[in-house]
Amino acid sequence: MKKWALVTGASGGIGLEIARVLAEKGYALVLTARGEDALGRLAQALERERGAHCLTVALDLGAPGGVDALVRFVAEAGVQPNVLVNNAGMGVYGRFADVDPERIQAMVDLNVGALTRLTALLLPAMLKHGGGRILNVASTAAFQPGPGMAVYFASKAYVLSLSEALDVELRPRGVTVTVLCPGATDTGFMSSARAERSALFKGRRLAKARHVAQYGVAAMERGQRVAVHGQLNRIMALGVRFAPRRLAAAMAGWMVREL
Ligand SMILES: NC(=O)c1ccc[n+]([C@@H]2O[C@H](COP(=O)([O-])OP(=O)(O)OC[C@H]3O[C@@H](n4cnc5c(N)ncnc54)[C@H](OP(=O)(O)O)[C@@H]3O)[C@@H](O)[C@H]2O)c1
Repeated sequence: MKKWALVTGASGGIGLEIARVLAEKGYALVLTARGEDALGRLAQALERERGAHCLTVALDLGAPGGVDALVRFVAEAGVQPNVLVNNAGMGVYGRFADVDPERIQAMVDLNVGALTRLTALLLPAMLKHGGGRILNVASTAAFQPGPGMAVYFASKAYVLSLSEALDVELRPRGVTVTVLCPGATDTGFMSSARAERSALFKGRRLAKARHVAQYGVAAMERGQRVAVHGQLNRIMALGVRFAPRRLAAAMAGWMVREL
């Protein structure tokens, strides 16, 4: 029987590469994001290069009813996902008081709201059909408060916390939850977050989305709970546990600063 994976944010960056890796592993795919053309191009390429069966659905997961429309699409297509990849996410760079409240709201609705609702709506069928795997994309931002990108860091702390707790709850019932925490990665994220001048990205060697995707999918397949990409990132994520929160927040603010 065909194994299905649903990947959100598959039109570019890390999500596109996760879709590629899953296609290489023989999964049929439901690919979603807002960008219809980019989804279509990816589906065609995966069908041509890998013989992968792909369904695409273009929608805004942060908009009211977006997640429900995706769940309806999946049900009407008769698809039962064995793998759910909650990758779609956005960043907003800047001090909280200076950022457009609408952009902050859109980020919370996507990074927190859509990820939570999609998981809640797809989980019952996953449990009924004997299990599955969930891969949530958080960030190294999840490990400490982030002045200069406060809501983004907080949204990823939520994803980390939720994923760890759900893995405890669901593992005995056959569903594993892996949370992938990439560091700065070369994708469209930097420009959509308007973070080009941040020390997080400027002049730094960025990870390749392909490597992050391979690492994340391998961790998901092993059922690893928390997967931090990159050795230095792993050391920092561990080190920050022993630092006073005040110091951790100050250090993150320094790393996010505008150059
Ligand atoms: N790049 C980094 O440095 C980095 C580091 C750590 C964690 N991450 C996380 O990695 C994940 C993927 O980001 P990325 O770096 O690959 O960035 P990206 O290149 O900007 O990709 C984001 C993906 O999410 C989709 N998306 C954005 N808003 C959406 C919405 N409202 N509804 C549906 N889909 C939406 C985008 O497609 P459309 O625009 O076509 O909708 C795109 O496919 C995010 O959760 C991000 O927070 C990124």
